[in-house]
Amino acid sequence: MTPSVLLTGGAGYIGSHTFLALHAAGLRPVVLDDFSNSQPEVLRRLAELSGAPVVFEQASIFDDAAVARLVEQHDIGAVIHFAGFKAVGESVADPLKYYRNNIAGFAALLTTLQRTACRKLVFSSSATVYGDPATVPITESFPRQHTNPYGHTKLVSEDMLAALAASDPSWRFGVLRYFNPVGAHPSGRIGESPNGIPNNLMPFVSQVAVGQRPFLQVFGDDYPTPDGTGVRDYIHVCDLAEGHVAAVNHLLAGHEGFTVNLGTGKGSSVLDLVKAFEKASGRPIPHRIVARRPGDVAACYADPTAARALLGWSARLGLEDMCRDSWRWQEANPQGYGA
Ligand code: WQD
Repeated sequence: MTPSVLLTGGAGYIGSHTFLALHAAGLRPVVLDDFSNSQPEVLRRLAELSGAPVVFEQASIFDDAAVARLVEQHDIGAVIHFAGFKAVGESVADPLKYYRNNIAGFAALLTTLQRTACRKLVFSSSATVYGDPATVPITESFPRQHTNPYGHTKLVSEDMLAALAASDPSWRFGVLRYFNPVGAHPSGRIGESPNGIPNNLMPFVSQVAVGQRPFLQVFGDDYPTPDGTGVRDYIHVCDLAEGHVAAVNHLLAGHEGFTVNLGTGKGSSVLDLVKAFEKASGRPIPHRIVARRPGDVAACYADPTAARALLGWSARLGLEDMCRDSWRWQEANPQGYGA
């Protein structure tokens, strides 16, 4: 029987791309989403792209009955937990929204799962748990530190999983520390659809290219990096999705739990990305150097060795692919998924 995989937050940016990758890999994705940070239109497009109806329920991870029903009805073999808020700035302004949803909500989900037969879960963590690294590239053994409530919720969630696995070894957790997910499905039908003014670089650059924003503010050019601007490990969202397929298959094959970085191992500066986007779009990206953004680190990129050795996964796509696919999505969907 083809294993079914429950995607909490499966209508979101990473979740929707992972849905397609799981389907293409012959697994059966099932979506639970409350649309608190996503739109129903995504599911219509997933049905179009996968050529199959999407098995879905609109519910919160706090909804014990809905989660238990989905797990039993679809004989869920593993869960991928995407459902969580992820805006650093918002987490500083409204920490309780983040602690309730990202920690209490996750604990509620795990409590429900504990009453079912499902003991395999992949967790969407983040390189933000490394805080400001002393050196780069970053390996999984680097010390963890949080610099904002959002990052704290990821760090505490990882500790919660470690404690649960220690108390009940039947649990198997795959912890995936994402670096900077960007890009969109090559079809141009699904992509990143931020609410309001984008906090992140790629969606902001995309909106400048299409004329929605007059210019990009480059947050500082006085960092100790090759061109002075911030360096990050941008990873194509489709590569990231394949990393989730490899992680789920590793758990379904009965292996032990693990924690791995999902990054390319390459650092790109803000100006590198601007240049790559201008080339991919053929549009100029007007930009101005302004003061550093509080909380930003100079450089953050992965040592991706562990994911390759353990899961046989490594990123394939480069910055030009990421910019090309972001541009196609932006041009075809100037308002994202609409209001
Ligand atoms: C990238 C670079 C900015 C916007 C955050 C979260 C992380 C993850 C990804 C959730 C930095 C510069 C940005 C702009 C700029 N989110 N920049 N002008 O901060 O590395 O990571 O998003 O998992 O957890 O911390 O990503 O895209 O915001 O910034 O110059 O308008 O672009 O200074 O150097 P970041 P980002």
